Amino acid sequence: MLVKVDATVLEGWWYEGCGIYRHVWLRSTDPLHVADHGTYVTTPDIAADGSNAVVAVAANVRNESDRARRFRVRTSLHPKAGGDALAATLSETVALSPYSATEINQRLTLAFPALWTPEQPNLYLAVSAVEEILDREEGRSATKPDAASADPAAMAAERSDASEDADERRDRSFEPGDAESHEGVRLADRYETVFGVRSIAFAAERGFLLNGKPYPIRGTSNHQDFAGVGVALPDALIAYKLKLLKEMGCNAYRSAHHPPTPELLALCDELGLLVMNENRKLDSTPRGLDHLRRMILRDRNHPCIILWSLENEEVLEGTATGSRILKRMAGEARRLDPARPTSAAMNHGWHEGDYADQVDVVGYNYGHRGSAADGRRRFPRRAQIGSESASYTTTRGEYADDPASGYASAYGTSIPSWGCSPAVSWQAVLDDPSLTGVFLWTGFDYRGEPTPYEWPCINSHFGIMDTCGFPKDVYYEVQAMWTPEPLVHVMPHWNWAGREGEEIEIWTYGNCDSVELWLNGRLLGEQAREGLSPIKWAVPYERGTLRAIGKNGGVRAASAERATAGAASRIVLEADRTRLGGDGTDVAVLRVSVVDAEGRIVPTADSLIRFELSGPASVLGVGNGNPSSHEPDKADRRRAFNGRCLALIQPSELHGESSATIRVKAISSGLVPAELILTAAAAAGARS
Ligand code: GAL
Repeated sequence: MLVKVDATVLEGWWYEGCGIYRHVWLRSTDPLHVADHGTYVTTPDIAADGSNAVVAVAANVRNESDRARRFRVRTSLHPKAGGDALAATLSETVALSPYSATEINQRLTLAFPALWTPEQPNLYLAVSAVEEILDREEGRSATKPDAASADPAAMAAERSDASEDADERRDRSFEPGDAESHEGVRLADRYETVFGVRSIAFAAERGFLLNGKPYPIRGTSNHQDFAGVGVALPDALIAYKLKLLKEMGCNAYRSAHHPPTPELLALCDELGLLVMNENRKLDSTPRGLDHLRRMILRDRNHPCIILWSLENEEVLEGTATGSRILKRMAGEARRLDPARPTSAAMNHGWHEGDYADQVDVVGYNYGHRGSAADGRRRFPRRAQIGSESASYTTTRGEYADDPASGYASAYGTSIPSWGCSPAVSWQAVLDDPSLTGVFLWTGFDYRGEPTPYEWPCINSHFGIMDTCGFPKDVYYEVQAMWTPEPLVHVMPHWNWAGREGEEIEIWTYGNCDSVELWLNGRLLGEQAREGLSPIKWAVPYERGTLRAIGKNGGVRAASAERATAGAASRIVLEADRTRLGGDGTDVAVLRVSVVDAEGRIVPTADSLIRFELSGPASVLGVGNGNPSSHEPDKADRRRAFNGRCLALIQPSELHGESSATIRVKAISSGLVPAELILTAAAAAGARS
């Protein structure tokens, strides 16, 4: 078995990574087994009154041996969390000739299914048990050792092992009342498929419907990247990123511009995020179709996936040649998965020729500039989606464009010509719900594409959060429009020594009806919110405390403060989780802040922080969100950038011990150090 990477061809316009940076598994099966990614579970019929749902389970069973096999498939449905079968069925006995495969199709009914939604991501498990039917002759031949192994002693040992094994399996799989109970039955394979019960539809007029109801898609587009690790993310970091996106109010994730890891999809199923799963290239060559097929066969059971995006911004969009290629790909996608619509994330050519008609849902990248509205007028029967939007370039904690340092102002003064704020993107959806939703570019900054700058700036500025997942100011614009809780946020920070008396531009983001602004206890005014955009103020600077109070119906509902911080005094450490798994793969995300004597983050602090560990763990990586930092990510230290940095701590695999204690100390010259204790335990899971 060989897994190798050839990274000499195909490099994207962002950092795609290189090497083997995803899990590689070797699956060992009986010769009679369910093929890899060999099941297809759909819920074609969900009763409108919720009383039942039909679950269709197709299992591709292969016989990879040189003799014919007879088998049946026993399929049962269970809650994902475990428990007795909620429904079960047994197929007819089927004969399979040597080295061949067949598909077994079964339909089961689930009574009162708990539907899957991002808010209540209820999951089920379909278990496909392949039971080989053995008559006496076959029973003997099944346990006969390979003729190639000539050593008689080894043959005897193998025979007794094999027959013990067969007995044990027979006991497990035999049930009284089976029609063929007079024969031997051997459990050859047991294959589990996680699925959800939910219906999806994209309607030209009503937009996206989830379980029959309109459901606006609040998504972000994302690459795989994260601080400290490049694109080689342990599962715990994937979970961390997804949780941050959910906290911001997202209900959807677009994996741009490549299929995500299977672990990310499993987490989207579990945590509740809709997914637009994207193919890498517009390509109908045998190799291109093979990539598409592998994505669909691997991923088509995930309830989270709502769209197959076949391409992103390809030059052939809107051309006759492109249309032929896309048609071939869309046909293949529908053949493998008739239950999901196809799409393409287009940035031109929507209204030329029949390119866009090859997919079920037409994607508009940056459609707020009139193209999506134009498409709606000219092609009223087409379903649409805001496949990409925003590209709002800002650097966390920076309030002026600084080309020399590679920083983009949080006031959005350097956004590209095709970009806009998240609020403008979302307004386009509110104005025309048939756009169905939007995937903002991007949830997180990523390596490469440092628009509007070039080297030595090395990270993108498009993220609503930086590469470490620290929120930029614009994060609160998004959270305010995508979450129901009253919220107000005030920017910039309030450390402008030397600018006393000078007017500072203040923005408040929020979702309250009106905002009061206070400085050092004096009310500066109250402004009503209009639409989703920030409220703007101009305030002569004086050190002290700037306070914004959000009011709903005249009643105070939310508040936010920016106080002038004093000199950097100490370090504060905060972990996303302190109890970690002990298998050597888990990671704690340590958020580091540099604060003054009163505990206020120092918004300009750039202290060098060093991490000292005691106990079985290592620093997996470090980061600080500075788009121009060339400090190594694989290190035990990092400078803070605008008051913050991050360390990823990975406990080692436990050998024998049931748990281990890890002390992390963060040290910086002139600052009071901080210490935090993590526990790694055999039983604690990476995703808990
Ligand atoms: C889009 C493209 C993305 C990224 C983005 C930056 O056109 O799909 O990959 O380059 O622009 O604004």
